[in-house]
Amino acid sequence: FKNCQKFNHESSEIYKASIKLEKFYYSKLREYQDINEQMFCSSNILISKMENTTTQERQPVDEEQKEIVQSQDQTQSQTEKEDLVSAFCILAASDKGIDYEKLLVKFGCSPLIDDNKAKIHSLTGAIPHRFIRRDIFFCHRDLDVILNRYEQGKLFYLYTGRGPSAEALHMGHAIPFIMNKYLQDAFDVPLVIQVTDDEKYLYRPEYELEKVQKMAISNIKDIIAFGFNLEKTFIFSDIDYIQHLYPNVLRVQKATTLNQIKGLFGFSESDNVGKYAYPPVQAVPSFSNTFPHIFGKRKDIPSLIPCAIDQDPYFRMTRDVAAKLKYEKTSTFYSIFFPALQGLKTKMASSDSNSSILLSDTPAEVKRKINKYAFSGGGITVEEHRANGANLDIDVPYQWLKFFLEDDDKLAEIKEKYGKGEMLTGEVKAILIDTINAFLKEFQERRKKVTDEDVKKFMEIRKINPVPKKFEEAR
Ligand code: TRP
Repeated sequence: FKNCQKFNHESSEIYKASIKLEKFYYSKLREYQDINEQMFCSSNILISKMENTTTQERQPVDEEQKEIVQSQDQTQSQTEKEDLVSAFCILAASDKGIDYEKLLVKFGCSPLIDDNKAKIHSLTGAIPHRFIRRDIFFCHRDLDVILNRYEQGKLFYLYTGRGPSAEALHMGHAIPFIMNKYLQDAFDVPLVIQVTDDEKYLYRPEYELEKVQKMAISNIKDIIAFGFNLEKTFIFSDIDYIQHLYPNVLRVQKATTLNQIKGLFGFSESDNVGKYAYPPVQAVPSFSNTFPHIFGKRKDIPSLIPCAIDQDPYFRMTRDVAAKLKYEKTSTFYSIFFPALQGLKTKMASSDSNSSILLSDTPAEVKRKINKYAFSGGGITVEEHRANGANLDIDVPYQWLKFFLEDDDKLAEIKEKYGKGEMLTGEVKAILIDTINAFLKEFQERRKKVTDEDVKKFMEIRKINPVPKKFEEAR
């Protein structure tokens, strides 16, 4: 019996040590991945910096260019310890993820305030979405302008987009579409969705044009499955719709210099010229006369763009150019990033199937990935966890629940109990698995029903009534 006790004791010590070792191994692995990515990001910034200082005379700063020049200064002052956020890479300096408060100040955006939330509520009668309640959409440019216009019975429309970089969308891609669906229903306004097959072809060396076009169609089916209203939604691929985009693309190209593009996007001299020419293509869907079948010749209807904050460089450029072209300045509404399973340092990416959950994953896959990979902020041993509680700032299951668990009270309870150590990571993960699987079940049921015919209908150039029913009734 004594031997048995001794053996038990030893084996539990070995078990504890092995868990520690595993944690250590994973943390080292993550460190190396981080260093790798960081080196990649920094080297890009460095190359563009070198080129910019040797070949570029700084432009004079006039009022209109302020937003753009500000952003150039950010790219250039970034040091290794700061968060990196550009249109092409996202890497936090700390395990807690990006410091969003700092970021919004740096970018010159406005924080979402209670006033904005209350106004959305009073104008639409809809309960603010959990993404709004919980500041997942946390900042904006001129959202208040759009809301004030709407209050006066003036039109606006929604614009968002998707670059088809993989066959299936993942959970992170769902965030802007969920928000757009909510806003479209609440405000009863048109939504245009740009699918940038051109962008992904130019930016991804590994893809042939045909491949990107094929992925675009399967992505569009996923997008339709979010439940957008056919009567108010126009989906287009750039390659398809280019003839209608082109007049405004030309106007934007003529009003934008190479210096500005380099400053905003950090391209180097060895990047292909298509990359330099692309940003105007992403700018023009924010001008209403790009869609004559919806807005006729009107160029005075502004757009609101709900998306993740990494797209801001495109829309800083767009707003700058709009002023020059005498178009309405677009408004934007930005979300934080949806964290990778492995931790908050970076956003979910399609390239690593273990860091992401696809919208096509089965319940068993969801369970396996979350249990195996979702980074826990809990204690190493149960005793330690019970004593100190979980660090929620770095805990992926809790962070994901903030995005997907609808019930505010339940979320608050988890925050309290898990934070104190009364709940274990396993219990929180179980709630998360159920929450994600319930979301995916509904999504996948709708996705199964989406046909090629539906794709055609959403992409058809057709009349769409831009006026909310509410406005028509008031007339
Ligand atoms: N550049 C985006 C991507 O890589 C695609 C995109 C085009 C987009 N237009 C947009 C995203 C407008 C948000 C809003 O996926």
